[in-house]
Amino acid sequence: MKKRFPGAGALPVFIVWIAGSAFHLNVYEPRVPQEILELVQENENPFPATPERIEEGRRIFYGKGLCVTCHGKDGKGIDKIPGHAPRDFTDARWQELRTDGELMWVLRNGSPGTSMPVRVGKVLSEEEGWSVIHFLRTFAGK
Ligand code: HEC
Repeated sequence: MKKRFPGAGALPVFIVWIAGSAFHLNVYEPRVPQEILELVQENENPFPATPERIEEGRRIFYGKGLCVTCHGKDGKGIDKIPGHAPRDFTDARWQELRTDGELMWVLRNGSPGTSMPVRVGKVLSEEEGWSVIHFLRTFAGK
C-alpha cells in the first residue's frame, strides 16, 4: 500500500487560506514598505484642492482610471469579485491615517499582493494622480 504523508490532504486547504488571507490585511496597516514609509508620507500633493481639480479627479475616477469598477460609485468598494477587498474610502479613520504621499505611492506601484493595479505611469499622469487623490478625499465621512 502507498504511504501517504499524514495530513497532506489539508495542504491545499492551507494554501488557499494563506492566499486568501493576503487580501484581508488590516486596512489601517500602511501599504508602503516600512523602510521608505517616512519619506513617502512627506511627499505632499503639489496641487491645491480647487473645485476644478476635484472635478478632474472625479472624471478620472469614473472614467479612464477605471477606479469605479473596483471601488464602486460610492467609494465603499465592490467586494463581489473573489479576492477583492478594495478600501472603503468613506472610512474617516483610514482617511486620517493616510497621507496624500502614501496614496500616490499606491497609484504608482499598485498594492503588491492585491488586485490594486499600477495607475500612475500607465493610464494616468502624475498630475492626474494628484487630482484623483483630491477627489478620493471628498468621500471622507460620507
Ligand atoms: C482591479 C481593481 C481596482 C482598480 C481598477 C483600482 N483599484 Fe484601488 N484598490 C483595489 C484593491 C483590491 C485595493 C486594496 C488593496 C490593499 O488591500 O492593499 C485598492 C486600494 C486602493 C487604495 C488604498 C491603498 C491604501 O493605502 O490603503 C487607493 C488609494 C486606491 N486603491 C486608489 C485607486 C484609484 C484612484 C484607482 C483608479 C485610478 C484605483 N484604485 C483603481 C482595487 C482596484
